[in-house]
Amino acid sequence: MYTIIDGSKTASRIKQEIADEVAKLKLDGKKVPHLAAILVGNDGSSETYVAYKVKDCEEVGFQSTLLRFENNIPESVLLNKIEELNNDEDIDGFIVQLPLPGHISENRVIESIDPSKDADGFHPVNIGKMVAGIPGFLPATPYGIIELIKRYGIETSGRNCVVIGRSNIVGRPVSILLSQKGMDATVTVVHSRTRNLNDIVRQADIIIAAIGSPGFVKADMVKEGAVVIDVGTTRVKSSETRSGWKLAGDVDFENVAPKCSFITPVPGGVGPMTRVSLLRNTLVASKQKR
Ligand code: GUN
Repeated sequence: MYTIIDGSKTASRIKQEIADEVAKLKLDGKKVPHLAAILVGNDGSSETYVAYKVKDCEEVGFQSTLLRFENNIPESVLLNKIEELNNDEDIDGFIVQLPLPGHISENRVIESIDPSKDADGFHPVNIGKMVAGIPGFLPATPYGIIELIKRYGIETSGRNCVVIGRSNIVGRPVSILLSQKGMDATVTVVHSRTRNLNDIVRQADIIIAAIGSPGFVKADMVKEGAVVIDVGTTRVKSSETRSGWKLAGDVDFENVAPKCSFITPVPGGVGPMTRVSLLRNTLVASKQKR
């Protein structure tokens, strides 16, 4: 029998912990944390994610600000807006929702964010601190994955962990965190150029699937008793939902789950934990400023 890792329930618990802290701040007459989000254009997934982030802020008692810009905003104007947020005393943390339109350099945008307000943990200063094991802001999804693993009491020490995907925002950072002291996993990162990928994944005690390819991980790639963390959130057409869309994970859940000890569903697994990490980073940013 396998255990479904309930990211929604875990995220709710953590949100309650954060809400309690905010209530205490208020009681002490202190300012509540303030998170801002920049959304460029009207990509459907990004709209959904940002709307959830604003709702999360309300739920825990944070202030939030959503700044929307047209798809054709010049990069220089966007960089000026970011500079304004950097200098705005009232804003504790902010994020720029990715992806950005092709004419804007995501790297330039990320590098222009004040690292002390970088709630997503994407700035090279925060990535550098993470690699060196210095406290800083951890990228939201990897942070959420680690928290899920810890709260479910899943042993990582000495275990074989295979991360599928090497993105800057999930695969690479989570591979670094899992190999650090305290987590102590033996980590392998596989990607589109990996030879014998299936054989390597089959050796894994823990699989982190972060490639954005629906149903990529099949039952015959999974060892009996493995832990499977599915980070995929691809929007696919669906006749089952009213919106006509549904979120598809990177794992063929139905066939993989029976082989697992633990598995995360999509939706309701890693996604809610990512959003909670953002709240936590914002709370820390706010405390550090005051
Ligand atoms: N796009 C997909 N995931 C994320 C995320 O965690 N943060 C931001 N800013 N954009 C994203």
